[in-house]
Amino acid sequence: MSNPISKKIVLLGTGGTIAGSAASSDDNLGYRAGQVGVEQLLNAIPDGAFGRCEVLSEQVAQLDSKDMSFAVWRQLALRCAHWLGRGEVQGIVITHGTDTLEETAFFLQSVLPHLLTSDKPVVLTCAMRPASSRFPDGPQNLSDALALAADGGASGVLAVCAGRIHGATHVQKVHPYRLDAFDSGDAGPLGFIEEGLVRWVNSAALAAHVGVEAQAVRRVEREGKLIEWLKRSPRWPRVEIVMNHAGAGGLMVDALLAHSGHDPLRGLVVAATGNGTMHEELEAALLRAQASGVRVVLATRCAYGRVLPRSDATFPDSQGLSPVKARVALLLELALADAAPANSA
Ligand code: SIN
Repeated sequence: MSNPISKKIVLLGTGGTIAGSAASSDDNLGYRAGQVGVEQLLNAIPDGAFGRCEVLSEQVAQLDSKDMSFAVWRQLALRCAHWLGRGEVQGIVITHGTDTLEETAFFLQSVLPHLLTSDKPVVLTCAMRPASSRFPDGPQNLSDALALAADGGASGVLAVCAGRIHGATHVQKVHPYRLDAFDSGDAGPLGFIEEGLVRWVNSAALAAHVGVEAQAVRRVEREGKLIEWLKRSPRWPRVEIVMNHAGAGGLMVDALLAHSGHDPLRGLVVAATGNGTMHEELEAALLRAQASGVRVVLATRCAYGRVLPRSDATFPDSQGLSPVKARVALLLELALADAAPANSA
C-alpha cells in the first residue's frame, strides 16, 4: 500500500516571542524571547492543521529578532535553499520574532531563486505573546502557517499573523502590542486564513507578489548569483539608515563617512519625511556622501504610500520599499556588484 503522506513541510525555528518564556503565565511582557525549541512548538499543534503533509523541524537559530544578524540570515537562506530543492518538500514555515520579521521575509524573497521556479511557499509566522502565556497566540499562528504552506495556492515568501496573509514586499509591523501587529499598507493583505482554510482576496497584489513573468528570468539569474555569494561566507557591505526629523543635521552622515577601516560605509538609506523631503543640512551631508561614492537611496518614513519621483530629485527613491527593506535591497545590490568580478573570472 502506498504511503498516504507524500509531501513534507519543513519547519525552521529562529526564536522570537512565539518561542518566548516568562516566569508567570500572566506575564505577557517580561519574558525572554527564543527559549522554547521548535519541536516543542510543533507539539502544541494538532496534527490535522497541516493536512496530509509530514512536518520536519529544524532549529536554525534561537534568538530575539532584534538581534538578527547576517550570520543567521545566511544560515536561514541556505537551509531554505536546501529544503526547497528537495522534490518531496511542499513548503517551508519559519517561526520568527515579530520585530525584524519583515526584513527577513524581504531578504529571503530577494535571494531564493527557487521561489521563482516553483510554487513552493516560505511562510514566516510569529506571536505577540510568549509560549508561556495563559492565552498564547503562537499556536494558532503556527497552525495557520502550516495550513498555508500545505495549500497549493501559496507561493513566494509570505507572513501570517492573526489570520491575515501578507506578502514579503509590503508586510510591516505596525503595532508593538496588538495581536494583529502586521499590516501591508496600501497594498492590503493577500488573503486570510480561517479555520485552516485559505481565502485569497487580493488578485492584483498576488500577481505582483512573486514577480511578473517577464522579469522572472532576470530575477532567477540575479538570485542564483546571490545564493552563490551567500555560500561563499561573504562580507556584507555596510549600509546604514539615517532619518530626517525636525532639527536633523549632517553629523550622523559625516560620522559614518569618517568611519573607515575594514568595513567602510557603502550605502545610506534616508528615512525622509513626506515625499522624500529632508533638512537642508542633512541633504548637504548626503550629497557629500554621494559625491564620495556612497550610494544614497530615498525612502519615506510615512507608514503608507511611497516616494513619488520628482523631476528635481537628487537621490534615487526606494521604489516603494520601506527604509528597512530599501536597506536590504541596497546591500544585496552592492553585494551582487562585489560578486560580479569573481563570477566573471
Ligand atoms: C522578537 O522579535 O524576537 C521579539 C518580539 C516578538 O517576537 O514579538
